[in-house]
Amino acid sequence: MRFQLMICAVIGLFLGFTINVQDAVIFKFTNAVCESYNQSWYVFHTCRLKALSRSKVVLNIHGTVLHPAKDISLRTRVFKRASGYKPWLFNIYFDGCLYMRRRNVPFINIVNGLLKEFTNINHTCPYVGPQIVKDFYLKPELLLLPFPTGDYMFAIQWFFDKRLQFDTNVSFIFVEDLLNKN
Ligand SMILES: *[C@@H]1O[C@H](CO)[C@@H](O)[C@H](O)[C@H]1NC(C)=O
Ligand SMILES: *[C@@H]1O[C@H](CO)[C@@H](O)[C@H](O)[C@H]1NC(C)=O
Ligand SMILES: *[C@@H]1O[C@H](CO)[C@@H](O)[C@H](O)[C@H]1NC(C)=O
Repeated sequence: MRFQLMICAVIGLFLGFTINVQDAVIFKFTNAVCESYNQSWYVFHTCRLKALSRSKVVLNIHGTVLHPAKDISLRTRVFKRASGYKPWLFNIYFDGCLYMRRRNVPFINIVNGLLKEFTNINHTCPYVGPQIVKDFYLKPELLLLPFPTGDYMFAIQWFFDKRLQFDTNVSFIFVEDLLNKN
């Protein structure tokens, strides 16, 4: 009995959350900031958003790794806006080279699921040459987490040989479509 109840609860949760995700029609970028702190290793050529419609905003980032990078770590943080951006839920430091071999960071798997078809960075270390994110836009159906409505910033600090080389900070909004929710 308890077991059946639990199954119902799990199915209910799952349905609730699928509907939640599909109803969320606004999931789009609002800002992008990129900055290199070591121009002799990483340079940005492009880092900008382009609005294609009210709900579709694409991100283009074009940069170059000037010498092979074999030891790459990332600090990824999510902030939620509430009179200034406040740390929200995720603050993950991980080895990027190991991740590319093992795909072992669940939250990053979700980010990668959103990003992978728009970039050439889906390979193992080393990294050198052009690093491209082209016409990347956010698809709510691939966001496997129920996010509360709000303004967020996803900040990544990129470390080569354990030293900070550059930042990519992108902001986005996530708004549930209340009108379509009968
Ligand atoms: C990215 O966001 C972090 C966290 O707020 C901040 O410390 C950093 O200065 C930002 N980087 C840039 C280039 O704006
Ligand atoms: C900057 O990049 C060069 C490689 O071009 C590297 O030798 C140097 O250690 C880097 N500096 C820092 C502070 O990471
Ligand atoms: C990215 O890499 C993974 C693992 O190597 C692979 O399964 C996946 O198909 C790749 N995705 C793309 C879009 O290349």
